[in-house]
Amino acid sequence: MNLAIVGLQWGDEGKGKVVDLIARYFDVIARYQGGHNAGHTVYRKGKKCVVHHIPAGIFHPHTHVVLGNGMVIDLARLFEEIEDLESWDVTWEGRLWLSNRAHVITPLHRAQEHWEEKFRGRASIGTTRRGIGPCYEDKYGRRGLVLGDLVRGRWQTIADLLWNRFKTLWGPLADLQKVESEWNDFLQQIPRWLPRLNSMVIQTDTWLRNQIENGARILFEGAQGTMLDIDHGTYPYVTSSHCSVGGISIGLGVSPKAIHKGIGICKAYTTRVGAGPFPTELHDEAGQRIRERGQEFGATTGRPRRCGWLDLVALKYACDLNDVDGIILTKLDILDGFDKIQVCVAYRFENEIIRYCPVRAHDLERVEPVYETLPGWSGETFGVTKIHQLPPRAQDYLHFIESYTGRPVIALSSGPQRDETVWFVNPESFFKISS
Ligand code: GDP
Ligand code: IMO
Ligand code: MG
Repeated sequence: MNLAIVGLQWGDEGKGKVVDLIARYFDVIARYQGGHNAGHTVYRKGKKCVVHHIPAGIFHPHTHVVLGNGMVIDLARLFEEIEDLESWDVTWEGRLWLSNRAHVITPLHRAQEHWEEKFRGRASIGTTRRGIGPCYEDKYGRRGLVLGDLVRGRWQTIADLLWNRFKTLWGPLADLQKVESEWNDFLQQIPRWLPRLNSMVIQTDTWLRNQIENGARILFEGAQGTMLDIDHGTYPYVTSSHCSVGGISIGLGVSPKAIHKGIGICKAYTTRVGAGPFPTELHDEAGQRIRERGQEFGATTGRPRRCGWLDLVALKYACDLNDVDGIILTKLDILDGFDKIQVCVAYRFENEIIRYCPVRAHDLERVEPVYETLPGWSGETFGVTKIHQLPPRAQDYLHFIESYTGRPVIALSSGPQRDETVWFVNPESFFKISS
């Protein structure tokens, strides 16, 4: 059984925790999009570990992990991440595979992004400044540098093209000397990276299809979230890749028929980093309390995350788009102690009450949330592992989400650690592991 894990909101839903939690049921964990804009947090033996390019399944020694063709990779940062793995005593050699068609992020992409964001002024996207968008631009402009070019030793011509193009288009603006020196450093690093790259870069799509044919179980790990999807999110306030389930087939080269089930990850409230519409955003004490209790600061950039109530209209849109078989709800514990909790059940839009999500940024900016107020619960949900330990009103909150979205909540994450989880289904049979 192969399973997709996707974020149902604007990222940081707790995908890393969930992938680490269920990786034991799978043989291969594969990322299909994005790059080191992602920050996936896993607690291992009580220690906080954050991975950016590398799938969060790496912490299970029996797994193989794949960085698919749909990804963009910053090699200097990837090798730093590998050093992190070593410092955490995680063995990776012989089980970390990079697609020969994943695109390479260069210093030129970061420089370009700096200017693009500057030009936008107040309309800037608030990107992670990792060069993700410009790298995908080069990919779709059919001039990108892929890992296969590096290992085949045919990167110099492409590098010349990229540099000449950059100089011509951005030279008058950019601090060219600084960019040139970063670019030269990058070029000089390539031969040093090659020996290690040679043993990791393969044609991952054929490898993966062979694995599937031989009965391996694959976990597809999404990064970012559905509302940040380049096509289906709040464009233009999105990332530059296909984060939703549709990205899997293209980003890894597997048939859509190879995706047997999908699980969406969702926080009990909503957060967003960077700019863009966010109907349920809170600017008051409640928002501040969620941010502090939830430690809502970016795992990649450290930026404070914008916080707000759960937006069921947007959540239902994401559930339907991905057609998920279930939801894993995270961070309910952060709402412990609230007397009242609000959930957005509709929008007021152009003098009408609507229950669908007008996802275009321009429209979503103008909706007003319509809330239903639910009672909070007394007692803690933090760290609980059994259903009967959950206060009845916390269970009601879950049921409210289930009935609105029409999707079962199959598990609740009650804390950042692997075992801080309540299952509402038997995971062995849900993932069809038992013989
Ligand atoms: P991802 O990008 O979706 O993997 O999520 P991040 O790792 O960026 O952010 C999620 C944060 O919430 C991390 O710090 C996790 O350790 C933490 N976390 C995950 N699940 C829970 C939970 O149920 N309760 C609490 N309190 N923290 C959680
Ligand atoms: P994970 O996988 C939350 C946001 C950025 C910005 C927008 C575009 O940890 O959930 P980009 O650098 O991708 O061009 O920025 O997308 N963003 C994320 N927000 N979690 C992420 O990843 C994100 N990756 C990108 O903040 O608003
Ligand atoms: Mg994150």
